[in-house]
Amino acid sequence: MDKINQIKKDVRCPKCMSILSVTGSPGDVLKITCPTCGKLGKVTFRLTEYIIEAENIHKIYSTGKIQVHALRGVNLKIKRGEMVTLMGVSGCGKTTLLNCLSGLDEVTSGVIKIEGRELNKMTDDEKTQYRAIKMGFIFQFYNLLPVLSAVENVELPLLISKEKPNIAREKALKSLDNVGLKGWEHHKPSELSGGQRQRVTIARSLVCNPLIVFGDELTGDLDRETSNEIMDLVIKLNKEQGLTFVLVTHDSKIAERTNRVLVMGDGVITKEYAPTHWCLT
Ligand SMILES: Nc1ncnc2c1ncn2[C@@H]1O[C@H](COP(=O)(O)OP(=O)(O)OP(=O)(O)O)[C@@H](O)[C@H]1O
Ligand SMILES: [Mg+2]
Repeated sequence: MDKINQIKKDVRCPKCMSILSVTGSPGDVLKITCPTCGKLGKVTFRLTEYIIEAENIHKIYSTGKIQVHALRGVNLKIKRGEMVTLMGVSGCGKTTLLNCLSGLDEVTSGVIKIEGRELNKMTDDEKTQYRAIKMGFIFQFYNLLPVLSAVENVELPLLISKEKPNIAREKALKSLDNVGLKGWEHHKPSELSGGQRQRVTIARSLVCNPLIVFGDELTGDLDRETSNEIMDLVIKLNKEQGLTFVLVTHDSKIAERTNRVLVMGDGVITKEYAPTHWCLT
């Protein structure tokens, strides 16, 4: 069983009223027998509707004497399979929020739940493992290693998670194919266009089969046509694989193509709306 996903809950026997602890994963229905009175029963571990929940998130950066209150009480809920964009002026806290939601950074106060599990109750090891298997990251400046080829860049997270090299290679090739880069596997980043490089980062973010993909300005330095191509790909992955995307962008054309736009201002969400003309393909 996937240990990371396990939830522990206390249930009360309806016959003898004793309390017992049971452990299961979301979606499990466990048959149990009360150890005190022998009554048979069932415990259901519900799949939470929301994949991400944030309650009253605050983030204060302290650098020397200066404190920056970057998040000032953010509340949000994101459903499985939703594609959400975060927008807002520079410095309003978008990247900070993304980093906190993905567990890359710690919140100062507040609660973040991923699949119903509190992120700040996980140990550092659990968080790292959770990020590695459940979350994908796409950043603006690719973060590709220039000396490695496309396939070597994509297989890297798998090798770091101790996957066998031949399996890692197979998965990386499949992931590159998935983003339309068949034939480009052995090119180095410098031999690829901006759009192709961004496809490699998308392939790398998907290679571990995540549930949620976080993207910070993923089309930030691409021209309009290439941005549209990358968004076509993101929408295809969202539609076909049910992946949840949380994207930060300054580009309203990108935001228009997602299910929901959250507008931030000075550390809080000030407005949210569903674009009227978001398209599926
Ligand atoms: N590591 C840090 N240490 C101190 N202050 C920080 C740190 N990271 C961000 N900040 C501050 O927190 C605030 C929010 O920054 P953040 O990077 O989240 O903004 P943003 O909305 O992503 O901006 P942009 O659109 O320019 O990327 C800013 O005032 C910034 O200076
Ligand atoms: Mg930012």
